[in-house]
Amino acid sequence: MRVAILISGRGSNMQALVHAAKAADYPADIALVLSNRPGAAGLAWAGERGIATACVDHKGYGKDREAFEQALHQALENAAIDWVCLAGFMRLLTPWFIERWHNRLINIHPSLLPAFKGLDTHERALQAGVKLHGCTVHFVRPQMDVGPIIAQTAVPVMDDDEPESLAQRVLGAEHALYPHALAQIVKGCHQEGWTIKDERVIGIAPLTKAAQSPND
Ligand code: GRF
Repeated sequence: MRVAILISGRGSNMQALVHAAKAADYPADIALVLSNRPGAAGLAWAGERGIATACVDHKGYGKDREAFEQALHQALENAAIDWVCLAGFMRLLTPWFIERWHNRLINIHPSLLPAFKGLDTHERALQAGVKLHGCTVHFVRPQMDVGPIIAQTAVPVMDDDEPESLAQRVLGAEHALYPHALAQIVKGCHQEGWTIKDERVIGIAPLTKAAQSPND
């Protein structure tokens, strides 16, 4: 299974996926890292490690979102991609693109969805006073941060947390969750191991407690 990872910035989740996919028994290959920003740090990181990279700079398309997405789609087709992972990809995708990758397009979001959709999730979690926060991997649907949930990890919110310290705790959990969720989805797809029923994902094993906080 050939996976593309779409990024816009540092790409730490992309790095976690690349590291995980090195294991002989990992069911997917990271075949392409694609960015909409030529200067994305993650693009250079991947290129230095011999991973195929591409950039479709959204600035070259002005307001024409569909032309931008057609170029993205073409890059994915050229690389014979089966699955697309969004990992800090900061462009909203239109239904045109999302339909083409229906149930093959997944995203990671830094909150326990459906709470705290959108940006600044850690600040908003602190403001709301929640005691548990976390991250979610989900299938992408046209509405932002909506879609069948594949896997989630909760982390505690500490009394002295600042947005940055909470972000770091969630990010550590993301780095374990995303490789797990992708593996489950790709493996299960081969073996008919999961289904989506009424927009609920059924048949995905949760990440074990011990694997939720890697030392990274
Ligand atoms: C992560 O927190 C991810 O959940 C969100 O954007 C951030 C990307 O970070 N969608 P990185 O580029 O993977 O380091």
